Amino acid sequence: MTIPMTPAMLERFQQGFERARQADIPEANAMTLATAGPQGRPSARTVLLKDADLGGFVFYTNLNSRKGRHLADNPAVSLVFWWRELAEQVLIDGHVEPVSQVEADAYFASRPRGSQIGAWASLQSQTLESRQDLLDRITEIEARYEGREVPRPEHWSGFRVRPRRVEFWYGREYRLHERICYELGEGGWQESLLYP
Ligand SMILES: Cc1cc2nc3c(=O)[nH]c(=O)nc-3n(C[C@H](O)[C@H](O)[C@H](O)COP(=O)(O)O)c2cc1C
Repeated sequence: MTIPMTPAMLERFQQGFERARQADIPEANAMTLATAGPQGRPSARTVLLKDADLGGFVFYTNLNSRKGRHLADNPAVSLVFWWRELAEQVLIDGHVEPVSQVEADAYFASRPRGSQIGAWASLQSQTLESRQDLLDRITEIEARYEGREVPRPEHWSGFRVRPRRVEFWYGREYRLHERICYELGEGGWQESLLYP
């Protein structure tokens, strides 16, 4: 069973995110997503946070991508936000659950048309013989959907990272950083401070 975050945890995240936005940090919603591949080998890349609620942290991607294949085999993930200008990071460990079709459809429909076409055209993480091959696919898909809405491809959807550990890290002088850790235990969320 997964227990949602407490309102206090979500608020702590949202306050940091808001500070990052106020500080005009570009792509404050960019986060490193680490997955585990075959034999438990880690790999990481950046994705964008598209929603955060008590249930977790949502991102979207191509389900056939390398990360998509990792997640199909092993839902365990780790996320890192680093907001340099604030000297803050947020570290999240947990597992992914697919978002609902309704949620994915709604988000896909809100994306610019070019990104919708791109979601069809890109065979994310597969070998591309030449850039022209991608451009040709885009032309073909633009023609296919000319004059009508672009539907969400089945291979493109989102995941909600359901946390079991969330750490808020605040950089302080002399490296005496503040670390506040929330971890799921027997009785629910436990809050503790960690040495820097
Ligand atoms: C700032 C930034 C944001 C990105 N956001 C996403 C995203 O939301 N979803 C996604 O699939 N890829 C995103 N990417 C591309 C990924 O980092 C990665 O190249 C791609 O998803 C393929 O990863 P994979 O081969 O490990 O599956 C982003 C890259 C950058 C630099």
